[in-house]
Amino acid sequence: MTRVAILISGGGSNMLRLVEDMTGDHPARAVLVASNDPGAAGLARAAALGVPTAAVDHRDFPRDRAGFEAALLAPLLEAEPDILCLAGFMRILTPGFVERFDGRMLNIHPSLLPKYPGLHTHARAIEAGDAEAGATVHMVTPELDAGPMLGQARVPVLPGDTPDTLAARVLVQEHRLYPAVLRRFAAGDRTPVLL
Ligand code: GAR
Repeated sequence: MTRVAILISGGGSNMLRLVEDMTGDHPARAVLVASNDPGAAGLARAAALGVPTAAVDHRDFPRDRAGFEAALLAPLLEAEPDILCLAGFMRILTPGFVERFDGRMLNIHPSLLPKYPGLHTHARAIEAGDAEAGATVHMVTPELDAGPMLGQARVPVLPGDTPDTLAARVLVQEHRLYPAVLRRFAAGDRTPVLL
């Protein structure tokens, strides 16, 4: 059975969709949900589904990214994941951490990468007058939001959209995209999922 750990920072709606999908004939199971924020609402939601959780508060490691990552790594290594999914995890990881999960760390990003890596993706798409927005699941490499694409979902940008209305439309598709990509990836298939 393929073991999947998930890192979150907030509500964890994408994490929940992944956990809920990993039942029955799915080739993987969720073994840990961890967060950099002990108050992340997703932690309680994961626990309610019976998934072990861990929290390492990044604020306990001011100006010490290496110390934070070492503390985060401890419960992760204990859980022995084969795949690590970032799902709304809002801390930048160092190349050293990324290399430990080389080829088996996935991230979901709320833009049609390579457009708009980083933050404020929906505001930037609206500002640019884009007709389409969306989300991308990609392999994590040391360069931020730049690894090989594993799946993409597109939505229209509608007249009158605000960053919030567009984010909500994209999130609906994220919830379809990430489970579809993980299912495929856990089965050893890296053909991109295009929605
Ligand atoms: C999602 O929209 C995800 O794409 C985004 O954060 C949100 C998390 O929502 N991720 C990033 O911006 C990564 N840089 P969730 O906690 O409900 O899954």
